[in-house]
Amino acid sequence: MRIRKAVLPVAGLGTRILPATKVVPKELLPLVDKPTLQYIVEEAVEAGIEEIIFVTSHSKHAIEDHFDRFSELEQTLERKGKKKELAAVRRPQELAKFMAVRQSEPLGLGHAILCAREAVGNEPFAVLLGDEITPCLPKMLEVFEKYQTSVLALFQTPREQISSYGIASVEEKEPYVYQVKDLVEKPSIEEAPSDLAVAGRYIVTPDIFPILERTKPGRGGEIQFTDALLEQAHQGKCYGIHYTGSRLDMGTPLGLLTTSIELGLQHPEIGPALREYIKDVLQRQR
Ligand code: UTP
Repeated sequence: MRIRKAVLPVAGLGTRILPATKVVPKELLPLVDKPTLQYIVEEAVEAGIEEIIFVTSHSKHAIEDHFDRFSELEQTLERKGKKKELAAVRRPQELAKFMAVRQSEPLGLGHAILCAREAVGNEPFAVLLGDEITPCLPKMLEVFEKYQTSVLALFQTPREQISSYGIASVEEKEPYVYQVKDLVEKPSIEEAPSDLAVAGRYIVTPDIFPILERTKPGRGGEIQFTDALLEQAHQGKCYGIHYTGSRLDMGTPLGLLTTSIELGLQHPEIGPALREYIKDVLQRQR
């Protein structure tokens, strides 16, 4: 079965970047010249996703607005002959079909995904977290086609960061493809079954919904997505890929800056000037 839909949970509070996220959603903070979420939608669309389901909250309507028409602005740009700007304004709404569901309280990632149940229906879907750029869906889709189970993206994390992630215990099935045996959310270094952390990209089979419905709040009083995936793993229905490519996490002040620098350096127009600026700053600091 082809994966057509992606759920993008964006209803969190973004407490790690306050006060920047007091009124501006974390997922709309700009990286060079686009909001973070647009990179993520583009990543999903490039992997073949046609329908995006945002899980939003009452303070995040700007997210829906960014992926909708803005006729007044479009008319003004058209009148002034600003073609490039007009194309940039129109691009977001042209990327995919969009819909939004509400999570009335931030009760955790598992709860946010359960809020999208009706919109997803009875088909497998992708989940992309709204604060990291990790372009690994194509390989995950290949693994899904073969095994028809949920698929996680796993990356090797330094020991000191283990307690910030869900950590997986795995059995290798083929090079870079694992069966997930166990999952522990934010373990201590001693408790961690490996150094393979779960990235914010998932392919999920729809039997996750009844599991989520009976998942009790776990760590931090939140309904943890990891707990529901763990049940699938125990049924032998969860695989993972070992992802070794780039992963940019903008969910902290330092991450926001380093992600901006990485994307700025890759940008065809501003990259060369940014490289010169960084060299100059480093020289002045010596
Ligand atoms: P995070 O935990 O990284 O985001 O969740 P957060 O809660 O917004 O940020 P901090 O930890 O307070 O700084 C990853 C993604 O899941 C969404 C967030 O919006 C984010 O994009 N999320 C999280 C929800 O949609 N609902 C929730 O209840 C929790």
